Amino acid sequence: MGRVDLDQFAALRTPEGSAALDAATRVAGGDPLTAAATLRSAGIPAGLAAAALTQAELRRRATAKFGPEAAGMFLTRAGLEQATRRVVADRRAARLRAAGVRTLADLGCGLGADALAAARAGLRVYGVEADALTAAMAATNAEAAGLTGSFTVERGDATAFDVSRVDGVFCDPARRSTGTGRRIFDPKAYSPPWDFVTDLAARVPHTVVKVAPGLDHALIPAGAEAEWVSVDGDLVEAALWCGRLADLPRRATVLRAGAVHQLTGSGAEEAAVGPVRRYLYDPDPAVVRAHLVAELATTLGATIADPSIAYLYADTPTGTPFARCLEVTDVLPFSLKRLRALLRDRRVGRVEILKRGSALEPERLRRDLRLAGDQAASVVLTRVAGAPTVLVCQPTG
Ligand SMILES: C[S@@+](CC[C@H](N)C(=O)[O-])C[C@H]1O[C@@H](n2cnc3c(N)ncnc32)[C@H](O)[C@@H]1O
Repeated sequence: MGRVDLDQFAALRTPEGSAALDAATRVAGGDPLTAAATLRSAGIPAGLAAAALTQAELRRRATAKFGPEAAGMFLTRAGLEQATRRVVADRRAARLRAAGVRTLADLGCGLGADALAAARAGLRVYGVEADALTAAMAATNAEAAGLTGSFTVERGDATAFDVSRVDGVFCDPARRSTGTGRRIFDPKAYSPPWDFVTDLAARVPHTVVKVAPGLDHALIPAGAEAEWVSVDGDLVEAALWCGRLADLPRRATVLRAGAVHQLTGSGAEEAAVGPVRRYLYDPDPAVVRAHLVAELATTLGATIADPSIAYLYADTPTGTPFARCLEVTDVLPFSLKRLRALLRDRRVGRVEILKRGSALEPERLRRDLRLAGDQAASVVLTRVAGAPTVLVCQPTG
């Protein structure tokens, strides 16, 4: 897929460009060569056709994040990859609004996914974006959403924005290098710079910062609430709620099938250790990353079987949105030979392989098991009191 530049973006916004985009939308998702040929045979110049096809393809991919609104948005690949999905942005915006924030600076607003959500929630949003094309697209996205009166974008350096103009600040620093597009894992290499971002909390009483979910807990500013968010089991982000926005130390927000579930706590509790019991719970990644496994264990009457592993065990199955529950049918010390024999005995031909605390590669194990049979099972590779262990499980109702 090609890159979009400012000239192509301007061309796409002309009547001719808009017609090219409509034509590209009709063929997007199919074979790229056929799509390009279709546009050229309709008399669309090659450059414009390529730009329209890139945009149409990005919009198609963006539907998973933004829903039908994606169809009217302008996007870059890097901007889309880093953009917040709508369900998460809407929740953040509602929380800011409920906390009394009415004017918000979005420092490094990207294509505007968060800013648009805040504007939809009734906030006046001032977006600042360093990249000229991204800033221009964000402004166009505000226009397409009918929000030009409440979300404006200025191109510039977020660190120079006068934060005394607003009563809240949101910052979602870039986690990709501008030149190479490669992912940045070290928050100290984020842009705007991490020191600027964390210092915002001292300057603006309502500050919220979006960070990668792999954030090291040692980097959480003192007094901030750290929230981890998952959507249908995928861990999507962490957010640091600072100043007056901090309610408690840690929160796991689990968005599943349209419903919202929250687990909160100190993040410093340790779950009690016990034996493997009849039911195994595999906690949602937001719970694990928020260090709220002990809090979840308390609600389930569960224990862990190894101090460093986040599987929980209990005698009874309890329905919870925060973990998947499996019934343990067999516990064996890890041995390929014994596991293969057991699965063969049970005529297990299909397995899902879960693991925590095991270096084994699931796909390699699957091959080595040489499965045959009409039954299914879950194979859990883990450690129990330090010893490599395999649990064979079945789903619970
Ligand atoms: C992670 S993206 C923001 C995504 C946005 N929250 C969304 O959901 O659409 C970060 C953006 O910050 C911009 N940026 C990085 N450093 C900046 C700076 N010093 N000033 C202004 N913008 C900056 C990048 O160009 C990038 O578009």
